[in-house]
Amino acid sequence: MSGDNNLTEPVGTRQPVTHGAQRPHGQVHCLVVDDEPSLRRALSRALERFGFWSIEASDGQEAVRILEQVPIDMIITDVQMPGMDGITLLRMVSDRWPDIAVVVVTGVTEVSIAVSCLRAGAHDFITKPFQLDDIQARVEQALEKRRLILDNKRYQKDLEGMVQDQAYRIEELFLEGVQSLASALDARDAYTRGHSARVALYSMRMARQLGLSDAEVQLTELGAGLHDIGKIGVTDEILLKPGKLTDEEYKSLMEHPVIGARILDNLLKNAPEALSIVRSHHERLDGRGTPDGLAGDEIPVQVRIVTVADSFDAMTTARPYRGARSAEAAFVELRRCAGTQFDPDVVEAMIAAFPPSTVFPIPTPDNVKPRIPHSVVGVGTDSRNGIKMYD
Ligand SMILES: [Fe+2]
Repeated sequence: MSGDNNLTEPVGTRQPVTHGAQRPHGQVHCLVVDDEPSLRRALSRALERFGFWSIEASDGQEAVRILEQVPIDMIITDVQMPGMDGITLLRMVSDRWPDIAVVVVTGVTEVSIAVSCLRAGAHDFITKPFQLDDIQARVEQALEKRRLILDNKRYQKDLEGMVQDQAYRIEELFLEGVQSLASALDARDAYTRGHSARVALYSMRMARQLGLSDAEVQLTELGAGLHDIGKIGVTDEILLKPGKLTDEEYKSLMEHPVIGARILDNLLKNAPEALSIVRSHHERLDGRGTPDGLAGDEIPVQVRIVTVADSFDAMTTARPYRGARSAEAAFVELRRCAGTQFDPDVVEAMIAAFPPSTVFPIPTPDNVKPRIPHSVVGVGTDSRNGIKMYD
């Protein structure tokens, strides 16, 4: 019985029917849905007397059209209407506009329907016949319930954000500790002091040269800074031995990638690329490396980058048994081993990343704090990462 033709036109072809002049901000916006024009208007006027802004629809379909265009806080809807009925509307509202409070108006004989509506997400119901004065209390109760639900959602979101921030901070503090350890390990040997920090810098520059994303660059830098952490499990006797290592000693030394990956396994669970750098930085392109004998594309590009950076820094810094090679000589050696030990594209990226005037080894960067890119929260905009320090 949708007798009011003026109310069935699509919204947008005319001004929605309201009894207020303009829809002010900060006022509660109500939508009254009923196919009975006199009842609908009476409800709408009552709402305006209570201080709400009100708009009307004669059935569920018109209500949806209004909801798609007008922000609404509360709906008072009849259940039995031609076209889309109140229950269908309620389900749609629960699905598409879950923050809207819905009050269902129903006859006394339809109490079971009202209960179904409550189960489907209605905030309250009003039974017909009703006194308009009773409406205010029910409406305000429904709005209060809505406000509590929205507050609760907000608190939950804030709490989740706080918990997430703290988790990141804890992760960072752990990583800072681990990186301090990596620096301390490098410093055990005067010849390797600053090695990890320089490898991180070379790797970062190569990763950028190769066009990796900001997140990939950060992960490369992170893994590079920690790549030798497993040397904590190698004795000073072996690590600082000035002469050639025995086969047994070399075997023990080369356990450091696996030890490192084991140490960082849990800490870098959200950064598997960085973890793979720690485990695989002694792999070779031709599959003759350790510990897994990975070859070609089985070795992630971040690992192939760090492998080149690691070797370049080793070559361009002095050792007790040999002097430092020049950068030119190191580049020649990298190219000679391209295709067997190293990825040729990565070698070229290393050479291209530094202008010919660069003095190697580059000064050891300091105060670079390790960061795991927060890939789900805007990688590339995190100004706290260490990358900026190298620019
Ligand atoms: Fe290593």
